[in-house]
Amino acid sequence: MPHWFNTTGPCRPEVHYMLSPTARLPDLTRLIDQQQYFVVHAPRQTGKTTAMLAVAHALTAAGRYAAVVVSAEVGAPFPDEPGAAELAILDSWRDDALYQLPSDLHPPPWPTAQPGRRIGAALRAWAAASPRPLVFFLDEIDSLADDTLLSVLRQLRDGYRRRPTYFPWSLALIGLRDVRDYKIASGGRARLTTSSPFNIKAESLTMDNFSAADVAALYAQHTIATGQVITADAVALAYALTGGQPWLINALARQAVEVLAPDPTQPIDAAIIDAAKARLIQRQDTHLDSLADRLEEPPIRAVLEPLLSGTVPANVPVDDLQFVQDLGLVRLDPQAGLVIANPIYAAIILRSLATTTRAFLPAISPVWIDAQGRLNPERLREAFLTFWRQHGQPLLGTTAYHEIAPHLVLMAFLDRVANGGGRVERELAVGRGRLDLRLEYGGVVLPIEVKVWRDGASNPLSDGIAQLDGYLQGLGVVTGWLVIFDQRRSLVPIAERTTAETIITPGGRQVTVIRA
Ligand SMILES: Nc1ncnc2c1ncn2[C@@H]1O[C@H](COP(=O)(O)OP(=O)(O)OP(=O)(O)O)[C@@H](O)[C@H]1O
Ligand SMILES: [Mg+2]
Repeated sequence: MPHWFNTTGPCRPEVHYMLSPTARLPDLTRLIDQQQYFVVHAPRQTGKTTAMLAVAHALTAAGRYAAVVVSAEVGAPFPDEPGAAELAILDSWRDDALYQLPSDLHPPPWPTAQPGRRIGAALRAWAAASPRPLVFFLDEIDSLADDTLLSVLRQLRDGYRRRPTYFPWSLALIGLRDVRDYKIASGGRARLTTSSPFNIKAESLTMDNFSAADVAALYAQHTIATGQVITADAVALAYALTGGQPWLINALARQAVEVLAPDPTQPIDAAIIDAAKARLIQRQDTHLDSLADRLEEPPIRAVLEPLLSGTVPANVPVDDLQFVQDLGLVRLDPQAGLVIANPIYAAIILRSLATTTRAFLPAISPVWIDAQGRLNPERLREAFLTFWRQHGQPLLGTTAYHEIAPHLVLMAFLDRVANGGGRVERELAVGRGRLDLRLEYGGVVLPIEVKVWRDGASNPLSDGIAQLDGYLQGLGVVTGWLVIFDQRRSLVPIAERTTAETIITPGGRQVTVIRA
């Protein structure tokens, strides 16, 4: 049977290229043998469900335990109706049990019980009836919120002391957050006035992203199966672009081997991985569910906006910070401090934030394309100045991310320019309030360095020129733009202060400085 790179849900060994899921977790044997209750938490799409399914399968197959992975997800629509959530959840648990376990280990009919007691009663009946100790992995615990979350956790804590005869022998909660955070209802906002309702856990375990060696091992499976070479440079680039984030690693490879180079005699090199990255960003293809909505959530904006703009954040509550880390959007780097988790996320976030701006961009006639269909940078500059003078100010209001509103408008404009025949690359220089953009159209490459001049700061011109010089040198391109967004208060209106001039850099390159 052919195998492929999986980008939809948990992996299945019979059809997906995959790394050993159990090797990605610490050994759970001791915790389970000791009848412990514990937590496994990791950001979205790290491989939690894949790993727990494998652990449960192995435990059951070994003959000592009845181990099952069930989910709380179908309770999500009922945050304020624990009774309704319980019925939905128990129904799905039965299906999971029938699917995963041999018939002698199936649960008995769920007993009737009061709302708020149904989960506990079902677990009690199952544990009592099971011929083997019941090991219970409860996945997607984060999908519950408010009263329902609290009710489920309290039932688990209540039953804990009656294990193993009348409650599961061992139990794990699987989700994004460590248990201490379950006192916080969904979204990290509404706080429930209680200490952690799951203070019975023995340990919290987590899962890491893939290492560079993991990525090489996963990609090698494709080479072995099909003969298609994936070069060492391609593997290294995939790792650099994703930080080893498991879903992104699979998604890049899938784009590369199925869409961009479906002929296995064509090796996958770094250029193909780069093109795969561009496709993912273009499609804003992510597993970060409804990213655009999430970016508007106040805790997420509070953390992301300063990272994107290089400004100093206002006081961000620790819980909010933890919440955004737990989602996997940002991570703490030992050297750089808090950063966007990986370059692909940064680009997707930037592109996603400009969605509304892009949608409301006025019609602009493509005067920058010459008779041969090539992009003419001088005409593009004039078109941008005209656009900015006329539409810049109102478009700044199309995003809640005020600190980077000018960047988003510029990016929306460039996306319009690239539309059809080109692409826009976005690179966020970590922690330095600096954004490197690159417009590619036909054979023309236009690097653009973006700086902001804020109140109380010094003129970023000389820094910007030096950075643009370095950027151009790195790309081997002779000319580019430095765009300085002047955000100081009480300035003359945009229409009057928007100017462009050509200057020679210390490196001897002729560049355009746009003040806007
Ligand atoms: N062992 C593995 N080998 C290779 N890829 C994996 C492995 N485990 C997970 N992945 C990749 O991660 C993706 C998500 O896997 P899974 O659904 O198990 O993660 P999850 O952490 O449970 O996600 P969620 O937080 O959305 O529930 C898979 O579609 C696949 O791309
Ligand atoms: Mg999962």
